[in-house]
Amino acid sequence: MDEHRRIAGVEEVPEESTLLATLRPVDPEAVDEGEGDLGEGEDGAPEVEAILTRAAGEVRAFRNYCQHWTDVRLDKDDGAFVRNGEVFCQTHGATFEADGGYCNFGPCEGAVLESVGVTVADGAVYLDDDGYDFVRLGPSAGKGDGGGSRIDFTGN
Ligand code: FES
Repeated sequence: MDEHRRIAGVEEVPEESTLLATLRPVDPEAVDEGEGDLGEGEDGAPEVEAILTRAAGEVRAFRNYCQHWTDVRLDKDDGAFVRNGEVFCQTHGATFEADGGYCNFGPCEGAVLESVGVTVADGAVYLDDDGYDFVRLGPSAGKGDGGGSRIDFTGN
């Protein structure tokens, strides 16, 4: 596998939360301004975020924005809330099935999180999506302070 596309060890991906990674879209035009995980690298190029979880028993990855209000991040750099195989949006309580991103409850019921392709090899998770390059673990530039997210009912 291409080591430049290695995101993390499988054991680093939590079963009851998410691991945040920053990606660079190959086609910057394909990124919507309204997506809450959109940041900007030092060179001005757009960056986005992926959340990885093992809640479905194997590693899955999605873009880090809700399908209800797309400017809301699911993981605000402290791990999204994940229980019983579902990723929660803490703003209005939508739940997304971790195996495919389908919203089975909440204001965006029926919507689906945007998938990011990943694959597992030799105990590590690799980006397997032609739409992105891997940048680093952690939030996209400018997102580490929780910026760009609306306040949720927990006050975060
Ligand atoms: S913003 Fe996620 S459920 Fe409303």
